[in-house]
Amino acid sequence: IADKIKTLQRKNAEALLGGGEKRIEAQHKKGKLTARERVELLMDEGTFQEIDKFVMHRAKDFGLDKEHYLGDGVVTGYGEVNGRLVYVFSQDFTVFGGSLSETHAEKICKIMDMAMKNGAPVVGLNDSGGARIQEGVNSLGGYADIFYRNTLASGVVPQISAIMGPCAGGAVYSPAITDFILMVENTSYMFVTGPNVVKTVTQENVTAEELGGASAHSTKSGVTHFACANELECIQHIKKILGYMPQNCEEIAPVYPYELLEDESRKELDSLIPENPNQPYDIRDVVKGIVDEDSFLEVHEDFADNIVVGFARIAGRSIGVVGNQPQSMAGVLDNDASVKAARFVRTCDSFNVPILVLVDVPGFLPGTDQEWNGIIVNGAKVLYAFSEATVPRITVITRKAYGGAYDVMNSKHIGADLNFAWPTAEIAVMGAKGASEIIFKKEIAEAEDPEAKLQEKVDEYTAKFANPYRAAHRGFIDEVIMPSETRLKLIKAFKMLENKVDKIPRKKHGNIPL
Ligand code: COA
Repeated sequence: IADKIKTLQRKNAEALLGGGEKRIEAQHKKGKLTARERVELLMDEGTFQEIDKFVMHRAKDFGLDKEHYLGDGVVTGYGEVNGRLVYVFSQDFTVFGGSLSETHAEKICKIMDMAMKNGAPVVGLNDSGGARIQEGVNSLGGYADIFYRNTLASGVVPQISAIMGPCAGGAVYSPAITDFILMVENTSYMFVTGPNVVKTVTQENVTAEELGGASAHSTKSGVTHFACANELECIQHIKKILGYMPQNCEEIAPVYPYELLEDESRKELDSLIPENPNQPYDIRDVVKGIVDEDSFLEVHEDFADNIVVGFARIAGRSIGVVGNQPQSMAGVLDNDASVKAARFVRTCDSFNVPILVLVDVPGFLPGTDQEWNGIIVNGAKVLYAFSEATVPRITVITRKAYGGAYDVMNSKHIGADLNFAWPTAEIAVMGAKGASEIIFKKEIAEAEDPEAKLQEKVDEYTAKFANPYRAAHRGFIDEVIMPSETRLKLIKAFKMLENKVDKIPRKKHGNIPL
């Protein structure tokens, strides 16, 4: 018996070493942690339970029959993150460069299947040279088995992908289907084809970092939701995201105890909107003035910054916030901002996270670039995402709500539950100047002093429409509120809506304009 126990101990020790000490050292030299170190950081101390530690590949070609490592390049299992069950797979770059073999894929599929049966999130820590080249199509089949499960799990359990090394070729499509992607600056990259292929096909000279580093994907493509300074920050972000999400689509996110203060007013909001309607301000100051202290976690911070999205808490409850950002391009909606907002709204709705929408939008961005890149369908995505969302939805119009963008930004007409406006709101077809130039064109042209006439008409239009009261007369706005009261109003409103039941018509699935 003593021998048998020794065998187990030896095997356990061997598995812990992955591809061996030399390769672990090389991994550390690159500024990267090992697969196991990452899992330890992610999970609450002592909670991680590994599965399939002794799995080995079955390949025989190209000398692989002589090279085996216990675990086959991926550490999989379950444990707790802040006391809640989470499944994890963590690719081990020290074993065949973390490359994905048939058995490596089977291990990942196994924990995904468990996560689905038991209703808990899956976190993937990716660090891999792609398909195990020696295995050919067996490896490609393994990828597809994962992609298929990612798709079926979408909207059932939260799926989070961290990219902590290479992630190239077909490998990118698993993270792409998951709910959130995080990348580590300088040590991770993602692309469908690497710099060498790019050079051959398009003659472009580009480095891996320029092509698919954290910076490229957080600012240019929007593929990654978070660019993290290092691995520790990346793992802390994963934990934070999980804190705003439920375990699965049948549950709600954890609610933290909150005692209402005697005075919940936020006086600074009353003077936040500038006198001049064309002067910008930071919508994040409004968010911070409404939500629980330090609870705002911005998502997609560096991409399409004319719209701000993120998670927050209000009186301890998780909410998703979407707000036009007047500080960037006057808060106009363009292609990128539309896709960013629509995606976030759908993520919130999938996982029962109520939505707060802050509106200050002058309209959609004009131009050939926008039209030819599909602002029609992209804008429609926002409209569609809000319209189909059955979670509690509340809108606060802080200033401009012009034209079609008024309708799109969670208006009453598309199913919002409560629509508030600040006294500074201007709900109209367009700005007063543009409107006057069109409807009083002839009158202005014929006037002795066209400038003065235009101003007179602008004043007239402003008095009539640049306010929230026309909309309030119709009930399109439920209440015009003082900015300083917004937090308290929202605490009460979200509480009132906590048992909301709403259904969309029975269908196979909708056909969102992609
Ligand atoms: N299949 C099998 N083994 C792989 C592999 C793959 N796809 N990718 C890397 N490896 C192995 C390497 O042979 C090396 O093995 P060793 O430790 O026994 O020497 C080890 O993983 C580390 O790779 P190395 O190239 O030394 O690391 P690096 O940090 O210099 O480069 C990559 C990393 C990913 C850029 C590089 O390994 C690479 O280009 N891999 C191939 C990627 C690819 O084309 N995949 C095809 C399928 S999408």
